[in-house]
Amino acid sequence: MKTIKEVITKKPWFGWILFLASATIVFLLGILASSIVERRSEARYAYRPPTNLQPFESDNSIWGKFYPREYQTFLLTADTSFRSKHAGNKTIDMLETDPELAVLWAGYAFSKDYYQARGHFWAVEDIRNTLRTGSPMTPDAGPQPGTCWACKSPDVPRMMEKMGIDSFYKSKWAALGPEMNNPIGCADCHDSKTMVLTITRPALKEAYERQGKSIADAGHQEMRSLVCAQCHVEYYFKGEEKYLTFPWDKGMTVNEMESYYDNYGYSDWTHAVSRAPMLKAQHPDYELFRLGIHSQRGVACADCHMPYISEGGVKFTSHHVQSPLNMISSTCAICHRQSEEELRNNVYERQDKIADLRHYLEEILVSAHYEAKAAWDAGAQEETMKPVLSLIRQAQWRWDFIAASHGGSFHAPIESATVLSNGIIRALEARIELAALLEGMGVKEVMIPDYSTKEKAQKAIGLDMETLIREKEEFKKQILPGWEKGL
Ligand code: HEC
Ligand code: HEC
Ligand code: HEC
Ligand code: HEC
Repeated sequence: MKTIKEVITKKPWFGWILFLASATIVFLLGILASSIVERRSEARYAYRPPTNLQPFESDNSIWGKFYPREYQTFLLTADTSFRSKHAGNKTIDMLETDPELAVLWAGYAFSKDYYQARGHFWAVEDIRNTLRTGSPMTPDAGPQPGTCWACKSPDVPRMMEKMGIDSFYKSKWAALGPEMNNPIGCADCHDSKTMVLTITRPALKEAYERQGKSIADAGHQEMRSLVCAQCHVEYYFKGEEKYLTFPWDKGMTVNEMESYYDNYGYSDWTHAVSRAPMLKAQHPDYELFRLGIHSQRGVACADCHMPYISEGGVKFTSHHVQSPLNMISSTCAICHRQSEEELRNNVYERQDKIADLRHYLEEILVSAHYEAKAAWDAGAQEETMKPVLSLIRQAQWRWDFIAASHGGSFHAPIESATVLSNGIIRALEARIELAALLEGMGVKEVMIPDYSTKEKAQKAIGLDMETLIREKEEFKKQILPGWEKGL
């Protein structure tokens, strides 16, 4: 066996190779060391307290002084220029594009005004302006309870701490108005001392406790979804106290929540056309998401809606919460190798098919409501109508559950299609029973008014839009400027 010295004297180039090889190794070790240091400083950057943030600091710009990257990206939720095939942050008047909705919600505030959601930055402005919150001309009046603010602002945990949870919910929406100035932000999801993710909304903690679970046991990845589950869930205002409650005691599927409501004899409103006792689904994004493959494989909301991004060598979490289709390269493409186009088409394919089922169900529901009205008008008895109205309630609950879970058709396409199919079956059953009933009463024709535009649909269900709009304008002129100053 030759020694290295012998090799080098025989083949002088070998010495150079040895030299270059060791130089390369030293260089690589250097990179490794610096990357470890960088990662440490990334980690230190990530949770960089101490700051002098006060508990319940609700002003996002104050947090922004300590965490400028997160704050700057949070501000981007103000952008309203992105539109995907079915969603995006451009506002769309849903009653305009889908006038059936006004008929489906007849007798309920959503028939007055319903826009597709935009970024978190707009949460406070949008709830002030919507016709659904009406026109409270005296600050302690106003039709809606304080509970309506619950998912709009980091001023909510601040005021709950100050007034107590019960009094917060019980108070009037308008009375809390001057306190609610900051849109969804830092204090909704972070502890101001440690910066760790935290649950600030009692309703989620309470729902967990009633299920025998505790948020304290949730792991880090789970928390990256649970912070969203404070708001993107199904809920209702319980009793006279208007106590915000998630109906999860029996489970979190569409059937289990329905059975929870049925047990209570709960309904959100009585339908103005059919007189059916209705349920309004809110936005069960979290519940539906849990039934899809991404959740089952441990993917969290933040993985697709708040991806890691890099800026000047610093890796941080984008706080531009938005459609992942506007940032495929930092979301889907982290885990999937397909082209952006293919991934986008995967989303569209699922959404298109679910949308077809949803529109079909909308149409048969509109007919069912008017056929029920025709039966009442012809003198049908309460007892005869009861089972039919119950089917209409069940069918529309299933429709709304999917319609209101805006991401559901991608988050959990199979569950979404199943729920809609079950809705279609129930709506068709209602119509079959109604057809027999109407036939028996000699009703030959059912009048369905023209609901082809938003205006026509709202007129058909008897809404006086002119008054509603005029009152809201007065509110904006007389009351809102005071709120904006933070009275
Ligand atoms: C809707 C919930 C939510 C809101 C609102 C929110 N964050 Fe975060 N934040 C997160 C999530 C999720 C992460 C990722 C945490 C993790 O994986 O450890 C995060 C991470 C962070 C981190 C750790 C570093 C990083 O970038 O990963 C900082 C600092 C931070 N946020 C600051 C802020 C500031 C400042 C605001 C207000 C402008 C804010 N956050 C608003 C959910 C939120
Ligand atoms: C404090 C309540 C609250 C929390 C927490 C919250 N959201 Fe929202 N979110 C809302 C509200 C309210 C809107 C509608 C705002 C509007 O249209 O004015 C919204 C809108 C959205 C939109 C639509 C925006 C767009 O540009 O299309 C997405 C996506 C979204 N949220 C995802 C998330 C995710 C993901 C999380 C958790 C990381 C989260 N949200 C946490 C209340 C919340
Ligand atoms: C954090 C990793 C991760 C991210 C981010 C992610 N996925 Fe996935 N995706 C998965 C895993 C894991 C599965 C399940 C596949 C398996 O286990 O074989 C999956 C499954 C899928 C499927 C097949 C499931 C079905 O419904 O038929 C599609 C399509 C898909 N992903 C598209 C996307 C798109 C589009 C995005 C971005 C909006 C995305 N994924 C983001 C990890 C991810
Ligand atoms: C695997 C990626 C992925 C995960 C994880 C994920 N989403 Fe989504 N989400 C999407 C896609 C894709 C869309 C459709 C966006 C579009 O059509 O532009 C969407 C849509 C939404 C929308 C509707 C946005 C709008 O503009 O109407 C909301 C709200 C939402 N998701 C919330 C959540 C919440 C809350 C979670 C966790 C419980 C979550 N998402 C988890 C990929 C994901």
